[in-house]
Amino acid sequence: MALLDVEDLSVTYHGRGADVRAVDRVSLSVEPGEVVAVVGESGSGKSTLALSLTRLLPSPPAELRARRVRFEGVDLLTASEPQLQRLRGGRIAYVFQDPATSLNPVLTIGEQLREPIERHTDRRGHDADTVALDWLSRVGIPSAQRRLGAYPHEFSGGMQQRVMIAMAMASHPQLLIADEPTSALDVTVQVQILRLLRDLQRRLGLSLLLISHDLLVVQRLAHRTVVLSRGAVVESGPTEQVLQRPAHPYTKSLLEARASMTWRRGEGGPDG
Ligand SMILES: Nc1ncnc2c1ncn2[C@@H]1O[C@H](COP(=O)(O)OP(=O)(O)OP(=O)(O)O)[C@@H](O)[C@H]1O
Ligand SMILES: [Mg+2]
Repeated sequence: MALLDVEDLSVTYHGRGADVRAVDRVSLSVEPGEVVAVVGESGSGKSTLALSLTRLLPSPPAELRARRVRFEGVDLLTASEPQLQRLRGGRIAYVFQDPATSLNPVLTIGEQLREPIERHTDRRGHDADTVALDWLSRVGIPSAQRRLGAYPHEFSGGMQQRVMIAMAMASHPQLLIADEPTSALDVTVQVQILRLLRDLQRRLGLSLLLISHDLLVVQRLAHRTVVLSRGAVVESGPTEQVLQRPAHPYTKSLLEARASMTWRRGEGGPDG
């Protein structure tokens, strides 16, 4: 049985102007231990899809319809708000693009890490601090003990994203939804964060829904890839097949855009 099973999910934003159908009858599934990528250009509905899975979008303006959204066999369409709250940041954890705005500037890293641990596990107080310390080391933060008392602004962007990943992992999620987890970071740091995500995923048998506009990121991590255009799935399949033998013109254009960027870099552009 699929861990996450989505069929015909649509999300419409009802605003003052015309309605926007941001997600259009999307079906996808994620198996235990599988990495599934969702790719598409800006505005294609990736974040809306990610947030709607645990009904994180305020309604109104967002209206969600689906034939099925199931996680570990539980129907998320009819789940109660307390049920969904237990799930979010628990069995389903999120990592977002910009760690600087996700972290609370006035709390120490240790205090912020303790929050998901105390909320989603039975570890409390000093015991929770031990778990927090353990996670900080596992995501590759050096001098973790000392860093527990530091504030977010004392960390680089890459280190902040490692903290966000530690916070997401501390509740032992089965599914991690990572929405552009490396887009705000320098190129070299991007590679390190991707490696960390891949190691955690493999070591823990985690399922990962990886959202990205960057096909190189997808190629490195994803078993299967779903291509989104204007909210709808235009192509999906094993990553290798989608990237090497794209069937849809939209996928081809994404690949061409990516290839020309790499080529420009090779020519000694701003990224060397
Ligand atoms: N709160 C909102 N109200 C109205 N429309 C919205 C809202 N949020 C997003 N949209 C629209 O929904 C569509 C999908 O947006 P979404 O942010 O999901 O795309 P995305 O693929 O994540 O883009 P990006 O790569 O830039 O993050 C866009 O047309 C966007 O303008
Ligand atoms: Mg987005």
